[in-house]
Amino acid sequence: MKKDLLTISDISREDIEGIFNHAKFLKEKFRAGETYHPLKGKTLGMIFKKASTRTRISFESGMYQLGGHALFLGAKDLQMDRGESIADTAKIFSLYLDGIVVRTFSQDEVEDLASNASIPVINGLTDQHHPCQILCDMFTIMEKFGRLKGVKVAYMGDGNNIANSWLDGASKMGMNLSISTPPDYKPNSEIVKRAVAVAQKNGGKIELTDNPFEGVRDADIIYTDVWTSMGQEDEYDKRLKDFKGFQVNTNLVGAAKKDCLIMHCLPAHRGEEISADVIDGEKSIVFEEAGNRLHVQKAILEMLMGGDIGHR
Ligand code: CP
Ligand code: NVA
Repeated sequence: MKKDLLTISDISREDIEGIFNHAKFLKEKFRAGETYHPLKGKTLGMIFKKASTRTRISFESGMYQLGGHALFLGAKDLQMDRGESIADTAKIFSLYLDGIVVRTFSQDEVEDLASNASIPVINGLTDQHHPCQILCDMFTIMEKFGRLKGVKVAYMGDGNNIANSWLDGASKMGMNLSISTPPDYKPNSEIVKRAVAVAQKNGGKIELTDNPFEGVRDADIIYTDVWTSMGQEDEYDKRLKDFKGFQVNTNLVGAAKKDCLIMHCLPAHRGEEISADVIDGEKSIVFEEAGNRLHVQKAILEMLMGGDIGHR
């Protein structure tokens, strides 16, 4: 049975631990310059309907490093843009390829693609979720803290795709997560409900607040994302006003734990969601975090396209 990664709730805690162990192994191999080609002869199709720097490049180079090949498919270049159905596209892709990464707007589209494809589908970001990013972020936190359980992440800003995937990820791994948003920008209520229940089972805690200073209390990590996501460009001016007070700056960082670390999925807008001195300061681990996209996604590719990675 093929497996997809459409949201973090699609995969088990054991899968996540397997991905982390394998990502560590792959990172060591990469650093040592050793060749490792478990996906020799395999091809990944990558459909992108939105811009990308990290996701596209890390999947494309990751696939090459694993001995396979990646095809970048700008949505405008496919017949899908001229009305070919998602179902037909999925069936055709399944005849030629071994896996699909898709970045698009609606989560329904990704689900439609996955249910009509006989090959694994990986969500490379939708308006609702960004599972690969949060798996990478949790791996980065594991590297820093040696554990996830009990580590507190304070997410700051928009209750968007990143916040939703944080809810899925943190609850599954028994982390403590606070999400600080303005009242009109809360994360998806169904996902919050699901996360609260899962967190309770796993000994973690989920809190929502509209007070950033309350959100960062006792935080080990402060995490933020852009205030205006891809596709929301028309709301830019309104969002600048609505998110005033949610900027991650030295004042807010001072209210968290003394040795807290700063994360951001990137791209960043210095002076908006985060001040330049904080993102470029000594607590920031944003570039280590971005670097880990490569290793974690390679582990995901190998798990979904190459078989069992659980032995590592
Ligand atoms: N964080 C992230 O997904 O970056 P890109 O949009 O550049 O892929
Ligand atoms: N929330 C952002 C994440 C970018 C990686 C967006 O959707 O544009």
